[in-house]
Amino acid sequence: MDIINLIKTRRSVRRFSQERLDRNLLVEFVEAARCAPAGANIQSLEYVIVDESKVCAELFETLAWAGHVKPQRNPSPLHRPVAYIVVLADTAIKDNAVVDASAAIENILLAAWGKGIGSCWLGAIDRKKISQILNAGEKYKIDSVVALGKPAEIPVMEDAAGADTKYYLDANDRLHVPKRPLQKILHFNKLGG
Ligand SMILES: Cc1cc2nc3c(=O)[nH]c(=O)nc-3n(C[C@H](O)[C@H](O)[C@H](O)COP(=O)(O)O)c2cc1C
Repeated sequence: MDIINLIKTRRSVRRFSQERLDRNLLVEFVEAARCAPAGANIQSLEYVIVDESKVCAELFETLAWAGHVKPQRNPSPLHRPVAYIVVLADTAIKDNAVVDASAAIENILLAAWGKGIGSCWLGAIDRKKISQILNAGEKYKIDSVVALGKPAEIPVMEDAAGADTKYYLDANDRLHVPKRPLQKILHFNKLGG
């Protein structure tokens, strides 16, 4: 797929088929994250691939899904992610790596979508519990969790009609994701011209 099309068609997926993902594929996604830009090229990020069902089940309990359409997009046992990549930062290397993590995570989402794998970036997470589950030492800050699996839903992006950009479900249970239209956010040379 052309890169622009890949970017435009990637959506957050919250229903997954239960087909397992090859671990090598998950490693490729981390490889994509490793190549992301980092401020001053100081790289504090590390990644934990979670693909064992017991650890997946423990991690699932620490996540919060789709607040605007609660509880419909809280994945049922038939639709849960089959793997996760937890992104964590070593605070001994860099104190605040949130922006670096964001660049790395976007690489994961796009690398996954390029392979037909759906993902959801999760930031509403119980970081303390995740640290315990992963045996992460004090120096690690849990940034985000990326949930992964073959998509079992196809959300649709659309131009937001007004100021409201909350995603919503239609009568057919399809998730719609309004984005602010280009003409509202694009400026040339100066603002307010
Ligand atoms: C920093 C960040 C944190 C997010 N945290 C969550 C989360 O905790 N739970 C969730 O269901 N989605 C989460 N999302 C996904 C957003 O809801 C989603 O990106 C947004 O609705 C736009 O949809 P799209 O990704 O399909 O464009 C998060 C996204 C970002 C960038």
